[in-house]
This record gives sequence, structure tokens and C-alpha cells, in this order.
Amino acid sequence: MSRFFVTTPIFYVNAKPHLGHAFTTILADSMTRFHQLMGDEAFFLTGTDEHGDKIAKASEEVGQSPKEYADQISGLFRDLAPVVGAKPSQFIRTTDPEHIRNVQKVLQKVYEAGDIYFGEYGGHYCFGCERFYTEKELVDGMCPDHKTKPEYIAEKNYFFRMSKYQAWLIQHINENPDFIRPARYRNEVLSLLESGALEDLCISRPKSRLTWGIELPFDPDFVCYVWFDALLNYVSALGYPRGEKFKKFWPAANHIVAKDILKPHAVFWPTMLKAAGIAPYQSLNVHGYWLVRDTKMSKSLGNVVEPKKMVDTYGVSAFRYFLMREMAFGSDASFTEEALVGRLNADLANDLGNLFNRSLAMTHKYFEGKVPSPGDESMEDAELKRLGRDAMQGFQANFAEFRTARALESLWELVRGLNKYIDQTAPWTLYKNKNMARLGTVMYVLLEHMRKIAVHLWAVMPEASVKMLDQLGAAFDLDKIVLSKEPEVWGLLESGGTVAATSNLFPRVELPEPAPPAPKEAVAEPKKKEAAAPKKAVEAPAAPAGAPEAIEFADFQKLDLRVGTVLSAAKHPDADKLLVVQVSLGEEAPRQIVAGLADRFSPEELTGKQVVVVANLAPRKLRGLMSQGMILVAKDAEVTRLLTAAGAVDDGGKVA
Ligand code: MSP
Repeated sequence: MSRFFVTTPIFYVNAKPHLGHAFTTILADSMTRFHQLMGDEAFFLTGTDEHGDKIAKASEEVGQSPKEYADQISGLFRDLAPVVGAKPSQFIRTTDPEHIRNVQKVLQKVYEAGDIYFGEYGGHYCFGCERFYTEKELVDGMCPDHKTKPEYIAEKNYFFRMSKYQAWLIQHINENPDFIRPARYRNEVLSLLESGALEDLCISRPKSRLTWGIELPFDPDFVCYVWFDALLNYVSALGYPRGEKFKKFWPAANHIVAKDILKPHAVFWPTMLKAAGIAPYQSLNVHGYWLVRDTKMSKSLGNVVEPKKMVDTYGVSAFRYFLMREMAFGSDASFTEEALVGRLNADLANDLGNLFNRSLAMTHKYFEGKVPSPGDESMEDAELKRLGRDAMQGFQANFAEFRTARALESLWELVRGLNKYIDQTAPWTLYKNKNMARLGTVMYVLLEHMRKIAVHLWAVMPEASVKMLDQLGAAFDLDKIVLSKEPEVWGLLESGGTVAATSNLFPRVELPEPAPPAPKEAVAEPKKKEAAAPKKAVEAPAAPAGAPEAIEFADFQKLDLRVGTVLSAAKHPDADKLLVVQVSLGEEAPRQIVAGLADRFSPEELTGKQVVVVANLAPRKLRGLMSQGMILVAKDAEVTRLLTAAGAVDDGGKVA
């Protein structure tokens, strides 16, 4: 049995949980469930980061002691998990006595090994970031993050000899391609490490300036720097060094963070582990930022998205599905309720919900609600099963690497394939012609595939998955499921079982009425579905006769248009009009796009050009070769030109 240890960052207790925290928590939970489905033993850690200037200041502002304040906000984070359907194995707080003891133990060990020394340092200190900046790092003399003027502070402090481990870290990253992923962040860290000498890390704060921290075991006049304290939570929670959990789950650690805290996790943490004689973690998985309509979420802009409100309005499964489906691993994503509603209606209500409901209703109409026994398999059935196998394998391979969006996209190949299968096999005609043997096989093929889809979806939508299985008459039993075998095995749904007559698991949803212009500090509050009047479904209104059909903004937003560079192009071996193009979209692997451009462009003309790509087009095979997107061109009666940006844009840049 393999072991899988997954962590979220421990969250600062200076603000309430929002969409960003919910996302990381749901991702960690989905990864845990996926590994459980694969038969692994999984451990999921989350918690709160409670020491340091930030918290001391925030508590002062509300007139509470830091501990009182931390207790209160930490509680809000503890309550976040059940709201978003997540089940962490442990919730750690950096004020837990075992953690404090552990930090002191590690500090003493590294100190005795000679990797912590006392020195003097003068630098520009930003209280928001709780760190010193060099002149070079400041932008017009301001902190690049907070845009405030840092204070110049010169003081004696303790330093961790991080520089000593620079060469080791470069080598470790080079030798372990999955240590930091996706590749763009590995490259970012490597170029930071290779661009100059790594500085030692200041790991103390004098008590004259800050007392809210863990006291250094070798000097009571100082407390520990908050990051040195916080990172150690990942081993404290396991009972380092002798705890059973530590022996079991370290170093099978897979950290999840957003790009904001890449450096502490990719540079401070592995060098700290090395100095403490602890094996490096297995992988650091870096996701992008959730923006709200392409703007950073912030209290002052009044655009903070509260997870609880979304869950109350749309349901926990739908909310989780949207987040896991919408954010491409490593890239930023934009949150709007229009996009959420658009996706729920397209993927869940239309594609999956209709399919499921039709399958149940037909079973009732044709077989009195009982799962029929399958008969001989036709070519159509075999082809669909092949498609299903590829879709499930694609889901599993992508999920294992934290690419949940790609994984779900792959599973939806099967959902769409099943909808097509219904159209092709036309069960209603089989029924009319009294071809009950064939009809039984068709219905079995549908229902068994629905079972497989439901099992896979437990990782992302546990609640809906269990209900779906229940409606299929197949109870969910984690001990019996072996997800890795699902692409191959057939016939686990028992014939003769009773299915539900209908299902309303994935209803169409509607956009709440736009909120009246809100005062700046108020969060736009989505209204409950029932209260929304007049109802505004996300559907294109009827177009006036003769005019091109108008689409809603939400429809446009479904398109993920991105700029990419053509790395290479070649003629399709089996089709004169097609080119097989490899395009870099800033993702780990280039995309292969099969494009009908061979009569307008030679492979050489395309190579090196920046192009605009529809990045979320469902992958499909064109003359035997997989195509993952579409290259856009502009054309008139005479010429066809590549659509491109007016100047260079990073690969993966969004067309908005
Ligand atoms: N306390 C540190 C982490 C210490 S870990 C040893 C910290 N806390 S935080 O409260 O600021 O949380 C940052 C993390 O919250 C991000 O890395 C990410 O996981 C999540 N997110 C916060 N805002 C986010 C978005 N807007 N989008 C996506 N995730 C973001 O840093």
C-alpha cells in the first residue's frame, strides 16, 4: 500500500477564510480522496499560522490578546473544511505546545550543528511581509507587495546558513523533476538559485520588538522568525522525530501552495530540512491565484468571495466541481458567478445530469426500473468502452499530478461519448421494434458507465457521487473500490438491482439578480435561488430574425483563449490539409494541435510564431492524432492570417 501525505499551507489568522483558502483546501481534499480510491493510505493536514508581527498587530487593533484573537480566527478556518466538504486528518495550530517544543528542538539541533550564527544586519523591513528587503528588491523604495515604505532596521539577530545548501538544492531540483511542479515554477526557482549567491536567512526577532513568537532555546531575548516556525508544522504534526505517523508518512509529503509562497517552500524549507538532517519532501505543487473578474481579491475592493455563500447558493458538490474544473494547474483563474453558472449548466446540468436522468428514466420505462442483463456486445459498444477506458485513464493520470481540470476534461469525453451513444443506438426505436435483447445491452452499457463515472467523481464531488451510486442501486464502499482497475473491469453493476426513477442531482442553476450598487466595503451577496426574481437563466435570448445569434457574456467567458508559441509543426501523415502543431502554452508539456492549415501555411512558416489558441476545446482525435485545442486565424475571401498579439506575451497569457 502506498502512502500519500498532503498539506495545505497553514493559514494566517489575520483574516477570515475566503475563496483562495477554500480552493487549496478542496484541492488537498480531492487529492486525498483520489488516493484513497486508488487504495493508498492518505493523510491530509491543514491548520493555522498564528505567530508574528501580522497577528500581533491585528489583535492589537481589535483590543484582544494575540492568543484570544488567534483562537477566534483559527476556529473559522477549522470550520471551513466541513463547509466545503473536506475532511482533514489533522488540524494543526502553531500555538500547539507540541509544535512549539518541536520548533525549539529543531532550532537547537541546527544551532548545535553550527548552521545558526549570531550577526548584525541592517535592512529595509516590511511589517506586512515580515521580512527584510534589499535595495534591489524594492520598487521605487517601496515594498513590491504592499506598496508601503519599509522601515530601515539595523539589529543583531540569528541567521540560518541557507547559502551553504544552495548547490545541493540546485542539484536536488535538477535530479527530481517532480520536486516542484508545474515546470514553470521549478524553472523560476532554478533561475533564482542560479542567478546569484543565496543569502543566509534571518531567523530571529529581538523581543524588544516582538514577543508573540516561539522563544529561541539558546537565547531567551529572541523569538523565532515566523516562517522558520510555520514551515516546521509539516513535521510537528506527524510527531517528528519518533512518532508513528512521521515514520509512516515522511517523506511522502506533497505540499500544496499558491504561487505567493513559492520561495519559502521551495528554498527555505528544503534547506531547513537538509540542515536538520531530515529527508526532503516529495513534491511541492504550486497553483495559481483566483482573481475576481481578473482583479485581485481584497477586502478594500469589496470583492472577497465567501465560500459559505457559494455553497449555500449552489451546493457543495457543484462549487467543488467548478473550482477543480476551472483552474488549470499552475495558472491563474477568474472567478465570476456568471462563469460558475455557465459551467454548472453546461457540464453538470446539460451533459451529465441529462444523461443520468435519461438513463434512469429509460430503465424505468423499458425494464420496470431494474438493471437489465447485458447480451452480446456490438462494435458500437466496444468502441464506446474503448473511449471510456481512455477517458478514465486520462482522468487518473492527470489527477495523480494535481491536474484536476485536465482530469475532469478527460472524464467528460466519456460523458459526451455516452450522450452520443444514446443518439446512435436510439433505445426508443429498439423498444418500438421489440428488440429487447439489444435494448438490455444498451441500457446496461449506459448504467455501468454511469457507475464508473460516479466512482471517479467521488474525489471531486463526494456528496453527489454517493447519491448517484445510490440512485443506481450500487452502494458506495471505499474498501471495495479499486479505481485503478475501473478502466479495465466490466460488469460490476449487478443486473436485477433497482434504480431510482429520476434524478435531480444536477439541476440547472440561475444567476441571482444583480445586487444593487453596493457600498465599497460590502461583499456582493448572491441571493438564494428562490428569491431571485425575475429569473435570469444563462441562456442566449432568441436572436432577432436574420441577425447572428447573440450570446451572453457568460457564454463568451467559457472560452479559454490563450497565447502560445509554436515549437514545431509537421504535415499530418494521413491528411493533406492537416498540420500537427506543438504549441507551448506555458504548461509543463506542449499541446499537440491538429490544425487544418496545411493549404495556407508551411510547417516552417508556423514554427516560432505566437498564436492564439482555444485552450479549453474538448480534446479529440483528428485522423488518428489527438488534438488539444484550436489555433485561430483571421480570414477574408483572399487571405488567411494567423491571429496573434501585437507584441510578445508570455506563453499561456490570456486573451481577455
Ligand atoms: N501562513 C502562510 C503560510 C505558511 S505555510 C507553512 C500564508 N498564509 S495565508 O493565509 O496567506 O495563505 C496563503 C495561501 O492561501 C496561498 O498559498 C493559497 O493556498 C491560499 N490562497 C489565498 N488567496 C488565494 C487566492 N486568491 N487564490 C488561490 N489561493 C490563494 O501564506
